[in-house]
Amino acid sequence: MSAVMSPNAPPSAHKITPRDVTFNITDQSPKFWFDNDPFKTHFFNAFFTTFPPGEEFFVRSVIHYRGQITDPKLQQEITDFSTQEGHHSRCHQDHMDVLTRQGYTSLVRENKLIDTLGKWANRRYPLSSLLSTLALEHFTAILSHQALSEPELFADPAHEDFAPLFKWHAAEEIEHKAVAYDVYMSIDGRYWPRVVAMIGSTLGLLLILPIRMTPLLYKDGVLFSWKTWRNGLPFLFGKKGLFTKPWRHYMQFYRRDFHPWNVQDYNLIAEVQKIYEKGELLSIGKNKKTVSA
Ligand SMILES: [Fe+2]
Ligand SMILES: [Fe+2]
Repeated sequence: MSAVMSPNAPPSAHKITPRDVTFNITDQSPKFWFDNDPFKTHFFNAFFTTFPPGEEFFVRSVIHYRGQITDPKLQQEITDFSTQEGHHSRCHQDHMDVLTRQGYTSLVRENKLIDTLGKWANRRYPLSSLLSTLALEHFTAILSHQALSEPELFADPAHEDFAPLFKWHAAEEIEHKAVAYDVYMSIDGRYWPRVVAMIGSTLGLLLILPIRMTPLLYKDGVLFSWKTWRNGLPFLFGKKGLFTKPWRHYMQFYRRDFHPWNVQDYNLIAEVQKIYEKGELLSIGKNKKTVSA
């Protein structure tokens, strides 16, 4: 991991920049768009498509406490966080719509359930909702860190239609990684509730992702194929796996003095920011070998 430890403050250049982009994910995009591999592709299909209802839940959870925030800087960050998550939600819904047209209809039903449960939780348990949000934002921050610090493993194998979405979302997740946490520290800040929330969120993610992936793999007739699992499981849980590599980063959350900006990984955003400013965000991945369905 390239991150270094530093005090609990973002770099002085820190700014949350909402970037309103539309990506080129269409019905013509390859079916197995990540490394030409069904398991890896469906892992990301299952994960990415939780974002439309999931990130709307995050925004509602944070906005609920906006009236209690007196710091004008954090107020502005809440606005920028909400705008970024709104864009993410919309772009991942575009991907979801393509998958629905391809016949992966289980995701629609599951997302309706997530949306209903999320709205219910926001109404009945606003503090638990905020706690889940900051725990899950830690997950998105560490996975984004992984994707941008080792793109050859976790971002570049994506087809050129998807690679810009990957890098754009990862960069913005790093930019706003502390917003939900800072809101919680402003209105409550107790240690044990956030630990319980992290344990619950970890178990929830480990449960929900296989549940979402199973019908996708089954539809493609690869659920019971040894090759699917032999290629796929090391990608997540092997020595260089997406979930195993950042375990130290993950564990930092359990420290009493944790703050998301203990990991100063703002430098990882630089590439995306630079090409965005040049108006070339969608050209990420254009020069590499194209995978096929
Ligand atoms: Fe997001
Ligand atoms: Fe986020």
